[in-house]
This record gives sequence, structure tokens and C-alpha cells, in this order.
Amino acid sequence: MAEPTFYIDEDVGEDTPSQQGTESSPYKTLGFAVLTHGDSPKFLARKSTSGDVPEGSDAATRLEWKPAAKAALKKAKNYAAQYQKKAAREQELLVQRSKEDADRKKVLDEAKKIVIEEDKSLPKAIRIKLDNTDPETIKLGDGKDVKGTRVRIFGRVHRERRQKENMFITLRDGYGFMQVILTGQLAKTYDALTLTRESSMEILGELRAVPEGAHAPNGRELHADYYKIVGKAAGGDDAITNRVSKDTDHATLLDLRHLTLRGETASKVMIVRDAVEFAFNSVYKELRMRKVSPPALVQTQVEGGATLFGLPYYNETAYLTQSSQLYLETCLPSMGDVFCIEKSFRAEKSLTRRHLAEYAHVEAELDFITFDDLLEHLEHVMCRVLEVTLSDPTTKQYILDLHPEFKMPERPFLRMRYSEAIDWLVEHNIDIEEEGEAPRPHKFGDDIAEAAERKMTDIINRPIFLTHFPAEIKAFYMPKDKDDPRVTESVDCLMPGVGEIVGGSMRMWDYDELMAAFDREKIDPAAYYWYTDQRKYGTSPHGGYGLGLERFLAWLCKQHTVRDCCLYPRYFGRCKP
Ligand code: 4AD
Repeated sequence: MAEPTFYIDEDVGEDTPSQQGTESSPYKTLGFAVLTHGDSPKFLARKSTSGDVPEGSDAATRLEWKPAAKAALKKAKNYAAQYQKKAAREQELLVQRSKEDADRKKVLDEAKKIVIEEDKSLPKAIRIKLDNTDPETIKLGDGKDVKGTRVRIFGRVHRERRQKENMFITLRDGYGFMQVILTGQLAKTYDALTLTRESSMEILGELRAVPEGAHAPNGRELHADYYKIVGKAAGGDDAITNRVSKDTDHATLLDLRHLTLRGETASKVMIVRDAVEFAFNSVYKELRMRKVSPPALVQTQVEGGATLFGLPYYNETAYLTQSSQLYLETCLPSMGDVFCIEKSFRAEKSLTRRHLAEYAHVEAELDFITFDDLLEHLEHVMCRVLEVTLSDPTTKQYILDLHPEFKMPERPFLRMRYSEAIDWLVEHNIDIEEEGEAPRPHKFGDDIAEAAERKMTDIINRPIFLTHFPAEIKAFYMPKDKDDPRVTESVDCLMPGVGEIVGGSMRMWDYDELMAAFDREKIDPAAYYWYTDQRKYGTSPHGGYGLGLERFLAWLCKQHTVRDCCLYPRYFGRCKP
């Protein structure tokens, strides 16, 4: 019988099982031919020298078939051997995996038969939250080693791990974390074996101090005697860890903010935010200031028309408020010193890390004061808010977790006039960079841009009260300084890492001076009658400020952007979720 012969044409052949390896149906590679037929047959090969098949050429007449070279045959044999080895390994793995799947199914089927039940003879469980400042826990003797104390906790699985026969769960409830240990049958149920992160659970058990040398939140752990899964969280591809992780880009994290908020950093920032906002309320109450709630829908501007959000309002046009300042001023005669914590809105078209379209604005207005009184009050409020915030041990710990090198600012804050800041920027070669123009040194009258302001604040590295800005670069309502009419009685408070977090000033209290300011700024005063009347009926020297809560938090919690300091940030290009 003639020796079988197979053909390999590197140009027009194909390595598919449908090829026969004949002259009219050749393979593409010798490797494939050897893999398919072994190395004993005769192999004839050909290829065009350039590697390209010349157009219009007839494959059969193009080149002569030649026996495969020895070296090429050796290479092909190697290839075939490697390929077979790999295929065998894959097959082995497949068998192993399906055995594992079958074993796991068996284990899970067995686990389904395990039913746990609460032992009603055990002492009644006391419901506690997961922080050690929880009043119920304090009653239990600080939640430490209270043998026999049975507690009931609710929360979500933050982390879970198996260790031999036991299962360790870190449960989270928004107040704190608790290490829970499942042993015996409890660790063998179907629910335990298929437990997914973020599943919500009710767990009952005995609270104990962790053994010497071991670590767990608040130094304690719960030895479970019973539990229930309240809501099982999605697993597999849909598991929360596959949707948000450390490597997820910032835009996706913001799209999934509802999930990101469950993370340790985001939840700590939000909890600190709650504490700070509460502290502002209590500090203002200590100062006997009254809280008011001015309207969000307005028909006047405070900080320039460029950043107003307009909206149809029945048959008129209205705006979302930029600041409640003008309304706060009108409350002074009837309520004394006032404050508010409301949303302000700015149609900022900038995508900087400190601009939001909607932000929480802490604003205050004080009656019968001087500019120095205003600065002293502001310094007191900021420091006292920090004191009150840090007086809660959990909040303090969260701030230190987020901002380990945080220190209370030194008082008094550095006072620096705008003109001194200009000199400082010139001395430190920090230039002004305006669009379409070459960088140049700052001069009096320039608006100090965000980047320059931050560089200066970061180098000085302490809070700065930057005062006495020129009238031209500030809002219409700021009065001139009696001793230097080029500048106003105005202040910005600058913080390292963020820059401006407060803007404030005295307010023009003379009717004619205010009318002239409206005229200068080309604002029609008619719509402001309710504001100008203030100067007609018992006017007074007064002043106030606005503090951006997200900027204050970005500084306190050392966050790169204000976007991470609010629940669902709104800024240029984002109004969801
Ligand atoms: O300096 P601003 O514009 O001052 C006022 O609105 C005054 N009418 C407030 C007053 O005196 N009652 O804003 C005050 C503060 C800024 O220092 C900044 O912290 C914050 O509000 N702020 C913003 N925060 C986030 N995103 C924005 N787009 C902000 N614009 C201002």
C-alpha cells in the first residue's frame, strides 16, 4: 500500500477538521498535520517566498510540492506533543471541576437538611446596636466580657471568612461593626455555606471579650446561638464586590453611589458630616442664634448672574437660590442673630474638585457688629464646631481614620490682607495664568485664582483669614473700608488642601451707598425692595458669612474632592442618581 501523503500549503491551506490534507484540500501548518495524522506519513509542503499569494496565481501551478524539512518536522512533532499534553491537562481539570461541583452540590444538598432553631430556654436577648457607645450596650457593662449576656443584633455582612469548621462574619449596622462567630451546625447550614456579602441578618448570641492577643472591633465578639438571613444579597457576577471595588473608576463609583455609600470611607465621611452639621446647630444655639429657613425659589441674585439656575415658575421666571444671605439680613430686626443650613445652587460650568451645582451652605448673619467682631465670631464658631464634633469618640475616631495627621487649628488664625497676599504670591513666583495669555506676576486688583490660592494656603499650611479684597472683585453688597476705600470689609477663610471654605463680609447699611452699588453693578434695585427697605427702617452695622459644608468636610476628612463629601453629588454634567 502506498505511503499516505498529506499536503501543507502555508498560503492557502486551512487548519480545520473539514480539510482532508489532500493536494486540493491542504492544511496550513505542518504542526496541525502531525497532530491530526501522527508523524509517520509523508508530508509535502509549499509556500510562496514573499508569503503573499500573487494575485490571479493558480495555487496548483504556483510552486512545487517539496517533502517537509527535517527541522520543520521536529518542530511540528514538538508542537503536537505540547498540544496533546495541554489538552490532557484541561480534560483532567474539567473532570476535577465537575467532581468538585458534584461534591459541592452534595454538601449543599446535605446542608439544606440542617435546620437551626432558637433555643427558647436561653435567657432573653437584648437588642443592641453595634457601637460601644450604644446606651443598651453601656448598660451591659461596656459590652465586654459579660458572660451569659445574650444580645440580638441586626445588620449586613461586611466581610466573611471560614476557618476550619467555624465561620467569622463582620456585621455592619451603620453604628459600628461586630465580629460574629458561627460554630457547629450554625456554620454548616445552606445559608452559611452560600452567605454573600451585604446579606442582611439577625443574629442572637453571647457577647464576649476577644481572647488575649486577638483583634476585633471594640475588642469583643458575638458567639452566635441562632441567626436568620433577612435578605440574601446577590452573588456571582452580580456580587457587590464585582460591581464596586478599589479599581473602579470615579465616574462608575458615582453612578453606583448607592452602593459606594456602603464602603468604609464613604460611610465615615457621611457620618462625620452628620456630626458636623449637628455641631453647627448646637454651637449656634450656644451663641443664642436663631435658625431660619429662607426660600430656595427666588427672583433675585446674590453672587452674580453667571451662576444662576433659572426655571419656569408659573408665568414668571425664578431662580434656585445662590445664598440665603439677603433673607437672613431681613430677619435681624425681629429675631436677633440668625443662621441657616440650606442648599445653595450654582450653575458652575467648571469641573474643579471644589465646585458643586448644589451644596449645603451654612450661613449666619450678626447684628450691630464690627468687622473684627465678625472675624472673631467666625474663628470661634469654626473651632467650637470642631471641639463639639471631636467630643464624640466614634466621630473622632472616624476623622482620624480618614485624616490621621489631623490637628486642631491654632488660634488665632493667620490674618492676611488681600494686598499682602498679592505681595506673597509675587515673592513666591506664583504667577497668574489667564486664558489665552502668558503667565505674569499678580498685581493689585487681580482675582486670585483657585490654583494660586491653594498653593499659597498649602505652603502656609494653617487656616488663613484673607481680608480686604478690592470692591471690583467682590459682591455688590460689601462696604468699603473707611481707611482704604480701594478695598472692602470682606473675608475669605482659606484651609490647607482645599482653599476657600468661607466667604463673608460686613454689609452696606447705608441706603444711598447700597443704591449706588446696584447702579454700579447694573442691577435693577426694584426687585430688591424687601432688601433695601432694611436700610430705611432702622438700619444697623451688620455682617455675616457663608461656609460650604462639603468644603469644610473635604478639609476635615482629607478628601480630594467635595463630590465625596455629599450624599449624591450634583455638578456640571451629573444630576443622577
Ligand atoms: O463666597 P460665596 O459665594 O459667598 C456667598 O454666597 C455669600 N452670600 C455667603 C454669605 O455671606 N452669607 O460662597 C460662600 C461659600 C464659599 O466659601 C464656599 O465654601 C461655598 O460657599 N461655595 C461652594 N461650595 C461648593 N460648590 C460651589 N459651587 C460653591 N460656591 C460657593
